[in-house]
Amino acid sequence: MQMNNMMPKILFTDAERETLDSLQDLLIDENWDCYYVSSVGEALEVLHAKEIDLVVTDVTLPDMDGVEFVSEIRNRYPSTIRMFLTSFSKQENIIKALAEGLTQHIIPKPWIDQELKEIIHSALRQSTQQKKHSPEFQVLINSIPLLPALPESYSNVRSCIVGDEVDIETMANYINQDVAISSALLHWANSALFGQRFQVDTIKKAIIVLGTDIVENLILSESVNRIIAGKLPHIKGFDFGKFKKHSMATAVISRLLLKSLLPTDSDQHDRAFVAGLLHDMGKLVAATYFTAQFEKAIELAKRRRCPLTETEKEIYATDHAELGSFLAEWWNLPPFIISVISCHHQPSSTPIEQDIIAAAYVANLLSYQFHFGSNGDTCLREISAEYREKFYLNEEANEILRNQTEDTIRALVR
Ligand SMILES: [Fe+2]
Ligand SMILES: [Fe+2]
Repeated sequence: MQMNNMMPKILFTDAERETLDSLQDLLIDENWDCYYVSSVGEALEVLHAKEIDLVVTDVTLPDMDGVEFVSEIRNRYPSTIRMFLTSFSKQENIIKALAEGLTQHIIPKPWIDQELKEIIHSALRQSTQQKKHSPEFQVLINSIPLLPALPESYSNVRSCIVGDEVDIETMANYINQDVAISSALLHWANSALFGQRFQVDTIKKAIIVLGTDIVENLILSESVNRIIAGKLPHIKGFDFGKFKKHSMATAVISRLLLKSLLPTDSDQHDRAFVAGLLHDMGKLVAATYFTAQFEKAIELAKRRRCPLTETEKEIYATDHAELGSFLAEWWNLPPFIISVISCHHQPSSTPIEQDIIAAAYVANLLSYQFHFGSNGDTCLREISAEYREKFYLNEEANEILRNQTEDTIRALVR
């Protein structure tokens, strides 16, 4: 096996030599630099000498309790990902360690070879992605469980697209299994926004009318809402229903803006819609994983009458734009979505995808000015003159946008 500095470094700690030998046999062909030790003393020496990306440890160790050990790692090497590989996966203190962010995943023993490898691959990918961000951001991300996998319903629908070929029949079957998603798709397909003049009454027709880009991303957005925000606690100043309405209005306005700018480029109209729908995804990450801090950021922004991103940065060293783009990148979403999520408050900060980002920036602010839902942000910001001109905005144009958007989203959001 060829060794180089770029190889991810993994440290395995287990009191039983046999376990370490089995792990070594299993991972022999992987391009990883692995260290196998049987005590915390040895593990700390390796951690001191090497920049370890991932620690996989048992809980029962000869010289220190495993929970204490991962807590030590978190304090000394906060950007290292930590996991338990243990027979005591259901024990209360282990579950508590996960909830408190001491460990980011628990793999039960005996493990399933393929599953173990996949989890390690996934953790290493997260580690690589984290390193592109500031040390503070890495610490923050390492205080929550490993990021969730891409929603299954979205993966299913995506699996029906191979190159330019789309298996609409199978895609429609997947979608038909979900009543909420089916009815949302039929609504959008019949809305004036997508220029449909005839009744669309089946999912197959809806897929044809909307196009697979829109369909797959509407499903993604719906799944994100369920998976990430499924168990959202009560957060003062952040109402999930209003957040959804804000996202939909931003999507609709983005599409209308792009249409006025580039009337014949329907692919760009669709992309603007999709990006608008997902632009604030990071707020769901913040609301779910950093609930207390997020609530505090909202409250402080309201009190100071300043943008939420300012207080977010003050309280947890990042903002929902960075958190959302991190998750979007983790899910390998298309680059234009990642760019919109990351730059929707500062459209001039990147030279790429400028039209779509500009549309999302303006749509986000208009949606707020028009009182379509709310997004946790209470500071009304002016749209800069450059962008008002870009999209030919004036009082009359705003009124048209407002009415069109209201008509489109009324039936979907109550
Ligand atoms: Fe935002
Ligand atoms: Fe927003």
